[in-house]
Amino acid sequence: MSEQAEIGVIGGSGFYSFLDDVSEITVETPYGPPSDSLFVGETGGRRVAFLPRHGRGHHLPPHRINYRANLWALRSVGVRQILAPCAVGGLQPKYGPGTLVVPDQLVDRTKSRAQTYFDGEELGGNRPSIIHVTFADPYCETGRRASVRAARDHGWEPVDGGTMCVIEGPRFSTRAESRWHAAQGWAVVGMTGHPEAVLARELELCYSSLALVTDLDAGAETGEGVSHEEVLRVFGENLDRLRGVLFDAVANLPTNGERKCPCGSSLGGQEPGIVLP
Ligand code: ADE
Repeated sequence: MSEQAEIGVIGGSGFYSFLDDVSEITVETPYGPPSDSLFVGETGGRRVAFLPRHGRGHHLPPHRINYRANLWALRSVGVRQILAPCAVGGLQPKYGPGTLVVPDQLVDRTKSRAQTYFDGEELGGNRPSIIHVTFADPYCETGRRASVRAARDHGWEPVDGGTMCVIEGPRFSTRAESRWHAAQGWAVVGMTGHPEAVLARELELCYSSLALVTDLDAGAETGEGVSHEEVLRVFGENLDRLRGVLFDAVANLPTNGERKCPCGSSLGGQEPGIVLP
């Protein structure tokens, strides 16, 4: 029982632990190992599994993260709702460092990541596994509302909505790329929001993101460009209040049995051809 959780939190750059009193659980998945152990504990009567996305101490760059294993591992311990904080660059001058964005859209500009569980292989379900999920609204609206309300309760007015552009990395954008992203009206740019969001959708999990702006991206500023040190420093400066918002956002989520959003039936009765954990 102590290994079970209902809510998952995937920590981003500089965010390597969440709860104090935790059980460390090693999970094997058919897709290989997740980024780290799951750290399962309780806050406000809710059982939460925390997973450091880049591994403890940050040994995995965004393009080497095993996103499939991470989401699979979380689901296998009972998680059905995920809050996913991450560090992002602001694409608009008004979204400077310290801005919290709860995006409602995503643009995928990654290039080489396994982004589906259903790639046509026969995986023991006796038939090829092909599914096309609906992804018009990539984030769970219930999760978004829980985070927006939690941030407001902490006096940290968030940007409610906006588009997160996800680049392949690990390099930051050129000035021209960044100006192009900004000209589309997109709000923020990061490296980990995809395929995390779509894999959660394929596992019928609720998933929403809390994007903390650590820098103005290259096209939105006039300086030298973004550095990883700057990202880690600003994320660290905001970590305590982000953790506080997450505790309240967890409390604001419905129980798994009370979910009313469409996320829990995103396979729409299609037979997945793999057995979900
Ligand atoms: N993560 C934090 N800042 C970023 C930026 N400017 N571009 C991509 N990912 C980021």
